[in-house]
Amino acid sequence: MANKQTSSAPGHSSETSLAVVIMAAGKGTRLKSKHPKVLHEAGGKPLLAHVIAAAQRTVSGRDIYVVIGHEAERVREAVSATGVNFIVQHEQRGTGHAVMMARDAIAGYDQVIVLSGDAPRISGQTIQKLLDFHVTKKAAMTILTSVLPDPAGYGRIIRKSAKSSDVKAIVEHKAATKAQQKVREINSGFYAFSVKPLLKHISHLGTKNVHGEMYLTDLAKILTKAGGRVVAVEANDPYEALGGNTRAELADIDRRMRMAKCEELMAGGVTIFYPETCVIDAGVQVGPDTVIEPFVQLLGATSVGENCRVRSYSVIRNTLIGDEVSILPGCVMDDSQIHAQATVGPYSRLRPGSEIGEGARVGNFVETKKMRLGKGSKANHLTYLGDAEIGDGVNIGAGTITCNYDGVHKHKTVIEDGVFVGSDSTLVAPIKLGKGAYIAAASCITNEVPAGSLALGRARQIVKEGWARAKQASHAEFKK
Ligand code: UD1
Ligand code: CA
Repeated sequence: MANKQTSSAPGHSSETSLAVVIMAAGKGTRLKSKHPKVLHEAGGKPLLAHVIAAAQRTVSGRDIYVVIGHEAERVREAVSATGVNFIVQHEQRGTGHAVMMARDAIAGYDQVIVLSGDAPRISGQTIQKLLDFHVTKKAAMTILTSVLPDPAGYGRIIRKSAKSSDVKAIVEHKAATKAQQKVREINSGFYAFSVKPLLKHISHLGTKNVHGEMYLTDLAKILTKAGGRVVAVEANDPYEALGGNTRAELADIDRRMRMAKCEELMAGGVTIFYPETCVIDAGVQVGPDTVIEPFVQLLGATSVGENCRVRSYSVIRNTLIGDEVSILPGCVMDDSQIHAQATVGPYSRLRPGSEIGEGARVGNFVETKKMRLGKGSKANHLTYLGDAEIGDGVNIGAGTITCNYDGVHKHKTVIEDGVFVGSDSTLVAPIKLGKGAYIAAASCITNEVPAGSLALGRARQIVKEGWARAKQASHAEFKK
């Protein structure tokens, strides 16, 4: 199904159908990895997922064709939820060969954008710019280019003349002469083609090069010779072209993505100290006047409210944090929720399904899982609270443990409003502590405690007066 898409290029109003082909079949030899290159991550997501997301700003998934090959099934599985189509390139014989595999798929479209699945910084705006330029110039092929301070490794753009947008050829780094290697304008690996000339000439690609591969880049020369127009347009941000071919390049891309996210948050009123040490995923939201200290990670669908402070060394994933919350150093939390004005940490571990109520406090070495701690309640030290429903104004003493697991099943602990649990208590679930009850320190509680009562579940203290002196005397006797 061809997608009718109206170009926003000035002076261009006719409708044109557009497909996107993403080349993602390569092995990524330079990464020295067992995993396919396009599934390596930058900015918290596989490279390919970024490229698909950028393409989806221009066309829907049903007009996107991802060419897969190396570890095809793993790649397919990783991104199938995006609704894109897949084409298998069984043997990876080069970028030209990858696009050849998509011949039948794109035959019904007017234009096709070809993207590299290993270059994740490409933006939706740039794809649109490439398309608009291509359509306006009525080109057979339009190459998105960048001028990089260090162009080593990339294909170089040989323009007809310095000022002309027309291109004579793309020369791969390894095949470039000394003079050509000095050209700093590089091929980003993103192109727009008019489908007709592309399909007419793609079979003319040869393999006479150092890799013995079919280079898509050779089409620049082939199409020019055939009388088609081949033009180049520069990306707004030259670093959109960066490809993750090596681990060092991946690290560089990741660092740039992280910094861009920090800059976006700072522009929105968030203070971030030493932003170069923080790892914040693209989807994370943070409210104004929140302060993020060094070495914090905010991951996945995490959202932090206004006026919070997230202190150093916390790793927070998929967690919703309200306003004026204080996260002290060294917390680890996943799939949880913290309401306004609560304090968590230092060194708290919130496992999935933890909900910390408004103004509540969770302190050091407290582990929680699937539990709700009510408004103003406190669990300040050395405690495990799992499968528990805890009301408002409850005090959980140091060292309290909900014994939720009998070796086979998990059971629930219910602690009603205003309960006071003395230190070092073990609460054997299923169990209920009624409203306002008191639990004496070091109790092992196995039966329901009615509201307003005191429960003691420990051995009575015995005192043997003079016992120590008698013991010392017997030792002295023995030594003689
Ligand atoms: C390519 C360009 C180079 C450009 C650079 C930009 C060619 C010959 N060279 O080089 O001019 O500067 O991108 O990043 O195109 N792929 C397949 N099937 C294959 C081979 C590759 O799907 O048979 C995919 C890869 O998975 C990758 C993309 O195509 O996602 C680019 O291939 P890669 O080998 O990384 O090309 P570069 O050497 O980076
Ligand atoms: Ca590459």
